[in-house]
Amino acid sequence: YLVDKGNYRHFMEKEIYEQPEVVSHTLAHYLDFANGVAKDFETPFDFGKIDRLAISACGTAYLAGLVGKYWFERHARLPVDIDIASEFRYREMPLSKQSGALFISQSGETADTLASLRYCRQEGLPIGAIVNVRESTIARESDGIFPTLAGPEIGVASTKAFTCQLSVLASLAVKAAAARGEVDAEGEKLLVRQLSEAPKLANQTLKLAGQIEKLARDLSHYKHVLYLGRDTNYPLAMEGALKLKEISYIHAEGYAAGELKHGPIALIDEQMPVIVIAPHDRIFEKTVSNMQEVAARGGKIILITDAKGAKHSTIDTLDTIIVPDVPEIISPIVYSLPIQMLAYYTAVFMGTDVDQPRNLAKSVTVE
Ligand code: G6P
Repeated sequence: YLVDKGNYRHFMEKEIYEQPEVVSHTLAHYLDFANGVAKDFETPFDFGKIDRLAISACGTAYLAGLVGKYWFERHARLPVDIDIASEFRYREMPLSKQSGALFISQSGETADTLASLRYCRQEGLPIGAIVNVRESTIARESDGIFPTLAGPEIGVASTKAFTCQLSVLASLAVKAAAARGEVDAEGEKLLVRQLSEAPKLANQTLKLAGQIEKLARDLSHYKHVLYLGRDTNYPLAMEGALKLKEISYIHAEGYAAGELKHGPIALIDEQMPVIVIAPHDRIFEKTVSNMQEVAARGGKIILITDAKGAKHSTIDTLDTIIVPDVPEIISPIVYSLPIQMLAYYTAVFMGTDVDQPRNLAKSVTVE
């Protein structure tokens, strides 16, 4: 592909800004917005009949899969096992013949993910893959593919491929929920309508760039950062930390907020900012108590929330980033943007090679 940066400083910046458009294309591939249903696309296994789904992937694609687990289990009551591909391939776990196997890979060439796929093939499982490159090895060796319509991704740190993977997973969760009788026609319509709002809300969220750029200047002075979140914001916290360490080289950890007291709280002081991803949802108050624990130990909090969350948190923060109000199912898609922007602008301030960070490869085709 011949792709240029246009007016952007880096491919990563361009790819962040492309997200409303590519998320919209991807969702429209799977969902019929006019009729409020999942489309009748081909699947390698029947979502209504399988008893489990085994997901395996690496890096950012793995974290997309982890968000997918919450969606499949919550909306479709479909149990999901999820593994990092390098573990999956050697773990020798029992796999039920009634399950489906799902692999997620932007490039479709990651060695560990491909090896996991071949393991499942040997075990006789039907195989599906969410891929961005349709002519890839993983696509070829699958029984069916679910393409992400992100277009070529050049920046080593994945951005638009991630939100497109989330878009596919959410669409598949809706499809599975309908196939398993876990939503009625009205319920399906509501989920599809909520998903259809993702591009518009992502677009509004991009307007936070100015505030996030200022915050990034402060963040670039720290050596360690802790990211916290609950529910689907837990994988997002890990993704925020991954993005930050990949391109700014700041040491960052992503933790489930409820695990704070089981370890990371020992590290809290004024030298380690804590970034909390917490929309005002049913477990918001739980996360507020985690923030109180941080504040009581002199920790500096950066809160990423919505207007209601900002109003109800009553905690002093270093900064509060207020994202538009979003329906719960699209929250991981929309909240991906501020964490990507925060990593991006921090890296720009630090002067690192944003698109080609040291020691990393866009696709890891050797073990
Ligand atoms: C590398 C890239 C990551 C990516 C991971 C998985 O580590 O730097 O951005 O998430 O591989 O790649 P895949 O192509 O399988 O999604």
